[in-house]
Amino acid sequence: MNFDLTEEQISIRDAARDFAENEIAPSSVERDLKSEFPKEIVSKLGELGFMGMMVSPEWSGSGMDSVSYALAVEEISKVDASVGVIMSVNNSLVCYGLEKWGSDYLKEKYLKPLASGKKLGAFCLSEPEAGSDATHQRTEAQLNGDHYVLNGMKNWITNGVNADVYFLQAMSDKSKGYKGITTFIIDKDTPGLEVGKKEDKLGIRSSDTCTLGLNNVKVPAENVLGEPGIGFKIAMQTLNGGRIGVAAQALGIAQASYEAAVKYSKQRKAFNSPISDLQAIQFKLADMAVLIEAARLVVLFSAKEKDEGKSYTKSASMGKLLASHAAVNCALEAIQIHGGYGYVREYLVERFLRDSKITQIYEGTSEIQKIVIARELLRN
Ligand code: CAA
Repeated sequence: MNFDLTEEQISIRDAARDFAENEIAPSSVERDLKSEFPKEIVSKLGELGFMGMMVSPEWSGSGMDSVSYALAVEEISKVDASVGVIMSVNNSLVCYGLEKWGSDYLKEKYLKPLASGKKLGAFCLSEPEAGSDATHQRTEAQLNGDHYVLNGMKNWITNGVNADVYFLQAMSDKSKGYKGITTFIIDKDTPGLEVGKKEDKLGIRSSDTCTLGLNNVKVPAENVLGEPGIGFKIAMQTLNGGRIGVAAQALGIAQASYEAAVKYSKQRKAFNSPISDLQAIQFKLADMAVLIEAARLVVLFSAKEKDEGKSYTKSASMGKLLASHAAVNCALEAIQIHGGYGYVREYLVERFLRDSKITQIYEGTSEIQKIVIARELLRN
């Protein structure tokens, strides 16, 4: 497989890098400290076409490929992983599903503003009693004439506080198990929809995560995505692409950790020379570089499989598993190389570690990725 980037992919990556360095970096430390959502940054990302990157221009998207998307998420996340996940959820979870399964009515009303960054979306699958075990949705949707009535509770909703639109799965026919799950597109201002507690998180603190309560929420039947009963299939296929986004986010954290470690090891002197002269440090840098390079190849391979219309379930899970492992391990080693300085806020590496951990948890834990990979390996 050819891994050379096209001129267009390089220019998109460079544009994302410039934006991250000039527009995101200056406020990232303060936003992390204050858990402040980057509203203005998100709206500028929308103006630049980064919020609906893979959506067709017909629906106000940028019509780019998944490789460009992965490169852009990595660049943004290298500077601020909170912005990376806000962008990733809108692009690969919400816009993707709407474009693939939405009616023209839903695309006109919801996809256009979401893909152009005028509105923000959130993906609502997890529940207090259905996280990894996502088939067991408790939230219920009852058909009543021309609308559904939804009751239940969602949690761990990234973008949940600031979102305008929710992409939400609920059980519309319990007797059919996961084949009775339906996906709904819901406006934030729908009566009965309550944005709950904003979580106080270890990392990615400037992105918001909250619970969502649904108390007799009336949703028009025309807001069903695809058709009733295919909601779990929609969620799983959508998450495959989401896993490429999270993997790219993790790569950004790993790369930032590595670069910080190289820089510090060249500056810091011990035993009469820069610590980069010490084999103990060189081995760490080599291990980090190998992990990052390997993870990036798998992530780009997966994005390319998606662009070529091939099945990418296995490669997306492999990429997420490997890149999130790289993020956590590179952040840990970057702290070790910084010594005590790595443990305080003055240097960024402590944030990299805090931000990295979630990449092994959301959009399917590392253990779930192994289940998905093994099932693909053993199929037939
Ligand atoms: N791609 C496509 N289809 C998939 C799939 C995938 N990755 N994973 C499962 N499926 C399909 C199966 O093929 C099966 O379909 P058929 O009926 O056609 O056979 C169907 O889904 C049910 O799957 P299983 O029989 O394997 O069900 P299971 O309960 O044994 O396992 C699971 C399902 C893989 C564990 C699934 O529940 C899962 O992926 N769980 C993790 C959920 C997750 O990733 N949550 C993230 C929350 S969203 C989030 O974090 C967003 C955010 O805000 C950042």
